[in-house]
Amino acid sequence: MAGTPFDQLSGDIWYDGEFVPWSDAKLHILSHGLHYGSSVFEGERAYGGRIFKSEEHTERLLESARTLGFEIPWTAEQINAAKEETLARMQLTDAYIRPVAWRGSEMMGISAQTNTIHLAIAAWEWPSYFKPEERLKGIRLDMAEYRRPDPKTAPFKAKAAGLYMICTVSKHAAEQKGYTDALMLDWRGRVAECTGANVFFIREGKIHTPTPDCFLDGITRRTVIDLARERGIEVIERAIMPEEIPEFEQCFVTGTAAEVTPVSEIAGTKFEVGEIIETLMKDYDAAVRPDAPALQAAAG
Ligand SMILES: Cc1ncc(COP(=O)(O)O)c(C=O)c1O
Repeated sequence: MAGTPFDQLSGDIWYDGEFVPWSDAKLHILSHGLHYGSSVFEGERAYGGRIFKSEEHTERLLESARTLGFEIPWTAEQINAAKEETLARMQLTDAYIRPVAWRGSEMMGISAQTNTIHLAIAAWEWPSYFKPEERLKGIRLDMAEYRRPDPKTAPFKAKAAGLYMICTVSKHAAEQKGYTDALMLDWRGRVAECTGANVFFIREGKIHTPTPDCFLDGITRRTVIDLARERGIEVIERAIMPEEIPEFEQCFVTGTAAEVTPVSEIAGTKFEVGEIIETLMKDYDAAVRPDAPALQAAAG
């Protein structure tokens, strides 16, 4: 699929309750979701035919929509079943799954009280978010210019399309300078997260990670914290200032797409890829497998 535009892949997409051919899964240009960012989505992965933490992702999707003031007209059970059906229809076992919900076209202004709420679910093969060779060495991050906003100015718990605007701007700026991704500070100047992943640091055998009080508390983040604690590794959630970054020995990021990916550099500060990261990468790989005993423990 390398290089094929996403609207030209083959297969079927679940769209408002039925499967439509991939190329027919369209929406009108006068859709509220497109103009006013009234769209929420999930990014999920299936491993060996099982969607990892499918229920948690569905709950977050429904809650993200409620945060934006709309109710997705499908129950959690129906959405979970639709995701499974999509995976089966596409004959995929290891895949990325993208549910997306948005306000339709009935009203075209700020107010959209009567707009139909749409839901679509697509699934495709997507082996690694970062290039595999880069992932093993560790990715390089730049510091982003934009900051994660004050919770009083944006609904940070929602996985809402609008919140990704500054992520794309920041990732593009980093890529133009030869980096893989950007590390964003928050509105107070504390370390927050990457453009599509949470961040962790390691010093003297302990893991430090920012408290998710104004950015997404990722499902992978919580899984990895559980896995580290099961190993007896101390995990400290706290405010981390950018000045502390050079004091850390190791760094990694987590996310459904990124999984556990080591970081080799943040804007000139170098990190090693050490034993704790390697252990967590292996533990995460084991936990996501459907037959993994660790899955039950980590699923919480
Ligand atoms: C901005 C941002 N932060 C963190 C994450 C990690 O979240 P999760 O582990 O639930 O995929 C993601 C990925 O969805 C993200 O887009």
